[in-house]
Amino acid sequence: MSAAPVILRRLADLRALTKSWHRAGEVVGVVPTMGALHDGHLSLVRAARAGCDRVIVTIFVNPKQFNSPADLANYPRTEEQDARKLAPLNVDVIYCPDPDQVYPDGFATTVSVSGLTDMLCGATRPGHFDGVATVVTKLLTQSSADRAYFGEKDFQQLQLVRRLARDLDLDVEIIGCPTVRESDGLALSSRNLRLSEAARASAAQINLVMADLTQGLLAGQEFAGLRDAAAASLAAAGFGDLDYLDFRREADLAALARFDPMEPARLFIAIWLEDVRLIDNLPVR
Ligand code: PAF
Repeated sequence: MSAAPVILRRLADLRALTKSWHRAGEVVGVVPTMGALHDGHLSLVRAARAGCDRVIVTIFVNPKQFNSPADLANYPRTEEQDARKLAPLNVDVIYCPDPDQVYPDGFATTVSVSGLTDMLCGATRPGHFDGVATVVTKLLTQSSADRAYFGEKDFQQLQLVRRLARDLDLDVEIIGCPTVRESDGLALSSRNLRLSEAARASAAQINLVMADLTQGLLAGQEFAGLRDAAAASLAAAGFGDLDYLDFRREADLAALARFDPMEPARLFIAIWLEDVRLIDNLPVR
């Protein structure tokens, strides 16, 4: 049986530990999370466990990335359950910083990554990605990790983290891990639990429609026509507003009109079902 991971709340304690690991020549991995852990998060932890000598999971509900105080207040805080889920995975430390360890009194710095954050989720969530970029910079610095693991489910976030790590010369390798899906193709998300049974069944359409779109693109069809047909079939399946359905280059998230085998690209979607906003993306290869 694995030992229960140590829970630390103070930066000084985390630093003391990571310094001793680095002195011993150990490779340190970090998995930043906001808790409410599901199998998608656990797959990141497993990847970190396989690639590093030491693994830190951070749990911090970051107030700066929420657009509304109500969302922040309602965000699930499930530290004990999270610790139980992490125990069998041989995690060394769960870092649950007290808020003043991340944002001390008088905190006045914002990390803002331009370009990558204007579109997709950035278009409807002003300030969200500044909050993400700021907290991720803090957590990567505080953990002094050699490797950091993020899910491709939030592909825009992953590209933003890669860019800020490069631009700010952070000495950390950013590793993207594939989206974990239910057996019907729905991407794992804690939001799925808020869907009614009927809506949960319809939600699988997202992946099917994206897979059809991929086939059309690979067959050389223009994205615009495929998009209209996909939007119509999602509306017919009972979905609500389509925030976006885009085809974009992976590197800079620029919009593309058609598939080019030389350019890694993805489909991106954000769509409402009942009162839940679901996001997903799929590589087009
Ligand atoms: O993806 C998340 O859970 C959060 O955006 C992150 C990266 C932990 C920053 O708060």
